[in-house]
Amino acid sequence: MPTYHIVSLPGDGIGPDVTREALKVSKAIGQYYNTEIDITEYLVGGASIDEHGVPIRDEVLDKAKKADAVFLGAVGGPKWDDVAKNKRPEAALLKLRNELGLFTNLRPVRVYEPLIETSTLKREVIENVDLLVVRELTGGIYFGKPRITEKLSFGERAVDTMVYRSSEIERIAEVAFKAARKRRKKLTSVDKSNILDTSRLWRKTVDQVARKYDDIEVSHMLVDNCAMQLVRDPSQFDVILTGNMFGDILSDESAMLTGSIGMLPSASLGKDSAMYEPVHGSAPDIAGSGKANPLAAIGSAALMYRYSFDNNDAATDIEQAIYDVLADGYRTADLQSGGSNEKVISTAEMSNAIIDRINQKQESTTNA
Ligand code: IPM
Ligand code: MG
Repeated sequence: MPTYHIVSLPGDGIGPDVTREALKVSKAIGQYYNTEIDITEYLVGGASIDEHGVPIRDEVLDKAKKADAVFLGAVGGPKWDDVAKNKRPEAALLKLRNELGLFTNLRPVRVYEPLIETSTLKREVIENVDLLVVRELTGGIYFGKPRITEKLSFGERAVDTMVYRSSEIERIAEVAFKAARKRRKKLTSVDKSNILDTSRLWRKTVDQVARKYDDIEVSHMLVDNCAMQLVRDPSQFDVILTGNMFGDILSDESAMLTGSIGMLPSASLGKDSAMYEPVHGSAPDIAGSGKANPLAAIGSAALMYRYSFDNNDAATDIEQAIYDVLADGYRTADLQSGGSNEKVISTAEMSNAIIDRINQKQESTTNA
C-alpha cells in the first residue's frame, strides 16, 4: 500500500479547526484507494512565534522539503500584527513558497449550484462559473529586491520592487497552457502592460509560449478590467494566468463568486514539492467555535489527491461529496442564505457529513 508522508502545519486561528477535518477526510478516502497517510504536525505562523520565537523553524522547513505534501491551515492574527516584518506569521508562508520552489498556485473557482443563493451576485451572473486562477507564486513584488523602509529628514520612504524574468514567466505560462488544454482551451493572461515594464515582458513572453499551443485561444486583459469583468460576466473565463500580486487580489475576488471565501481551495506546486491550503485566512474571531467552514480545506485535500498522489478518482469523489452535502442542505454558518432546507452544522459535523457521503458511495459501488 503506498504511504504518503504529509507535513501538517495547522497554524493559527481556524487553521487547526479546518486542517484537522481535511486530514480526517483524506484518511477516510484513502481506505478505499489503498492509500496510507502518515501525518507529522508542526507549529507554524503565530503559534510558532509564541513557542519558538520564529514563524517557522529551519527544521520544519527541512521536513516540509522532504514530505510528499505539505498541508497548511492558515497563519496570522491581530496578536502578531506588531512584530517585525521578517518575523510576522505570513513570513512563514513566503519562506515555504520560496524554499520549496512553489512557483505555481492553482485556485480553482467553481460555483456549486446549491450555493448560488449564498453569493452576493445574481444567479444569472454566476451560474456556470468554472474557472482556474493560475497565479505565479515565487516572483514579482512579493520577493523583489530592494525592499526598504527608511527615515528621511522629512518623513519616511518605503520601496518594494516588482521583478519578473522571462524564464519565470515562461514556466508559469507553460503550466497555465497545459491546464487550459485539459479544460475549455481558453486562456486569459492578466497584466498591467499599459503601465508596467514587468507586464510588458509578461505579455511578450506569454505570446511566445502561446505559439506552441495553437489549440488554445489566448487573450490579454488589463488587471483593472479583469477585476471588473469578474463581477460583470465571470463565466467568460476559463484559465486566468497572472502574476503574484494580481493573482492574490483576483483570487479573493473570484472566491466570492462561489458564495463564501470559505469554499476556495488551493494547490501550490513546484518541481519537487507541493503545498495545499485553503485560500481563506485564520479568522481568529471564530477560532475553536465550530463555526469555521472546512470545505476549502477539504477541497484542498482533493487537490492533494489529484496532484501529489496522482489519484484523480479520489479527488473527484471528495469534490462530489462536497457537492452532495451542499445539495442536502448542510451549511456552515458562513453559507447560510435563509433557504428553507438549510441545516446549519458545525465544522466537525460538516466533515463527518462528507465522510458519510464518501462511505455511502463506496458501499453502493462495491455492492453493485
Ligand atoms: C494568499 C494570502 C497570502 C498572500 C498572505 C497570507 C501572505 O493572502 O495566499 O492569498 O498574500 O499570498
Ligand atoms: Mg490572498
